[in-house]
Amino acid sequence: MKELNTPSFALNRAAAFAWLAATVLSIGLRAETRPFTLVVLPDTQCYCDTRHAQSAKKWGGDLRRYFFDQTRWIRQNAKKLNIVFVLHEGDITQTDHPDEWKIAAKAMSLLDGKVPYCLCLGNHDIGYRKTGNSADSYSTAHDRKTLFNKYFPHSKYRKLDHFGGTFTAGRMDNSYWRFEASGMKFLILSLEFKPRDEVLEWASMVTEKHPAHRTIALTHSYLDSQNKLTKSGYPVQGNLGEGIWRKLVSQHPNIFMVLCGHVLGEGRLTSKGKAGNSVHQLLCDYQGMKNGGESWLRYMTFYPKENKIEVFTYNPSLGSFMKGPKSRFALQYQMGKTSADTAEK
Ligand SMILES: [Fe+2]
Repeated sequence: MKELNTPSFALNRAAAFAWLAATVLSIGLRAETRPFTLVVLPDTQCYCDTRHAQSAKKWGGDLRRYFFDQTRWIRQNAKKLNIVFVLHEGDITQTDHPDEWKIAAKAMSLLDGKVPYCLCLGNHDIGYRKTGNSADSYSTAHDRKTLFNKYFPHSKYRKLDHFGGTFTAGRMDNSYWRFEASGMKFLILSLEFKPRDEVLEWASMVTEKHPAHRTIALTHSYLDSQNKLTKSGYPVQGNLGEGIWRKLVSQHPNIFMVLCGHVLGEGRLTSKGKAGNSVHQLLCDYQGMKNGGESWLRYMTFYPKENKIEVFTYNPSLGSFMKGPKSRFALQYQMGKTSADTAEK
């Protein structure tokens, strides 16, 4: 009996090994092709505006609930959509006031420990100046002073796994972030409003140090709703879309996307970088719509198997999608293993 059973046992063991290997391979392949989602939060300044209450006057109420609706929805859908990162496009606040920052910090804190996120600074977040006696008399971006770092402190974010580093020690005005999804490495460059030349040089250096990371640049003003790069405006010195493209984005083969807000509406431009790589540059900003944007946001689901990114414009408060080719579209993007994916030491 023993002799008779041995081949059968060996056969079973071989079959079990084959099954196990196939299962592990299949799980690995599934993990490498599993769709994943990035969420983009456009200008939230109207939701936070309480001091001058311009948004409240215009729309008849406190709008902060829309900011909370956004982050609550992200938290609730993190697993279902496999949300791997949230990117805020700036103009977080209306006038860089403590009361406004408190709202923003509380709304974003719903994501703490749930979904990684980063924010960039808009013109409304820096260099606030009063220009007259009326509540509406003020202008922005006279300098780079901001309360951002008090409410989104370096001491909180530097401990996180996804945090890469900052341009200025201890300050979050310019930062970089890393994450992995479906077997691919990603890098996010979060850049100040009108990034200075020295910031773009730093961002270039960071990008060059991460050649195997697929890179997204996040900055407040870059593209307008006519699909043209922004080029002028605001007292603070630095670069808008044209300069950012020329000095940073076009120079690196691994930058594949730029995300921005600032200009009301939606815009889209795909250009070739110096190395022949396609760079998808996307604008969305819904603050000019009813209720200061009423929670409209973007989410982008990456489908590695199809080499495709599906872009959705969604309103968590209303539970509805925005239709039309400017709001709902697909982008071609090569995923899966490439030689660049293994280039980094
Ligand atoms: Fe702005």
